[in-house]
Amino acid sequence: MSGAVLVTGGAGFIGSHIAEAYLAAGWSVACLDDLSRGKRDQVPAGATFIEADVRSKAAFAAVADGKFDVVVHQAAQIDVRVSVDDPAHDASINLVGFANVLGAVAAGKVRRVVFASSGGVVYGDPAVLPTPESTANLPISPYGVSKLAGEHYLRALGALHGFEGVALRYSNVYGPRQDPASEAGVVSIFVSRLMANKPLTVFGDGQQTRDYVFVRDVARANVLAGTAAVSRGDRLDVPAFNIGTGRETSVNDLAQHVGRTVNRTPVIEYALPRAGELHRSCLDVSKAARELKWTPQVSFDEGMKALAAWFDGTAR
Ligand SMILES: NC(=O)c1ccc[n+]([C@@H]2O[C@H](COP(=O)([O-])OP(=O)(O)OC[C@H]3O[C@@H](n4cnc5c(N)ncnc54)[C@H](O)[C@@H]3O)[C@@H](O)[C@H]2O)c1
Repeated sequence: MSGAVLVTGGAGFIGSHIAEAYLAAGWSVACLDDLSRGKRDQVPAGATFIEADVRSKAAFAAVADGKFDVVVHQAAQIDVRVSVDDPAHDASINLVGFANVLGAVAAGKVRRVVFASSGGVVYGDPAVLPTPESTANLPISPYGVSKLAGEHYLRALGALHGFEGVALRYSNVYGPRQDPASEAGVVSIFVSRLMANKPLTVFGDGQQTRDYVFVRDVARANVLAGTAAVSRGDRLDVPAFNIGTGRETSVNDLAQHVGRTVNRTPVIEYALPRAGELHRSCLDVSKAARELKWTPQVSFDEGMKALAAWFDGTAR
């Protein structure tokens, strides 16, 4: 099944891969982005591009008038530390901007919205690992609150206006086009620094774990979520799906792994732990396997090689 999709944040890291995946599946694709972090040349050639801020009237008109079947919402303020320093700025993009898009979705009779949530933040410091969707939600940062609140807006406005909402709670996404200057991109940071023969900084003892999922696997989940049958339940987690691998990797192991991929021995400099950082994070992805028919397919080795090739300039 195909149709017309709008990807907000479509000039960014994950959004540009989602746009490519929808194009490959035969959809007509438009990308909307204010280029605050995204790059125009990351929008795939087959997609149309709308430069607009998700909070603007122009974005509202583009979504309401665009005759889209599906809106995939990736545009966001993505930095946890920025959200702590300036929670109003975070809320303005992640909540007010999303509410503007959802108002336009209702006006434009869009059938479905797929929302980029975050399994790394909506559960707070989870008691259960790997963490299933039903785990209690107690985010510890404004960014986490804005992602969880976004899921509430999606559910409530969908029920009021009759559109379907699916939330994908990503773990730590990595791959080509991830900005090594971005806070979320530890894999990118390690690969780019090692390739430049620079030491790696590890905060804390390096035993903290994350669940690293490759960006093209995430893009495929977004295509499946555009059409899969999903139930609308009386709980927030019913139309929510963890998208990760279910594998925990410590930052120390990550450094060694990256070293093997790019053929360099990492020099690690340990620094003080960062306040508010989770100790362990790993998602239970069995619900996505059952209901979206999605499982991650790219191994850590393959994914890191693809990232290194992008840094080399030998792959897009
Ligand atoms: N990268 C991860 O590991 C990760 C994990 C969990 C969730 N997410 C979520 O996935 C989504 C995509 O993240 P990403 O890593 O690709 O980051 P990114 O910064 O590369 O992409 C976000 C895009 O949104 C655009 N944008 C920002 N503010 C905007 C605004 N006001 N109006 C229009 N466009 C705007 C940016 O220019 C950028 O292109 C985000 O919603 C993020 O919160 C990412």
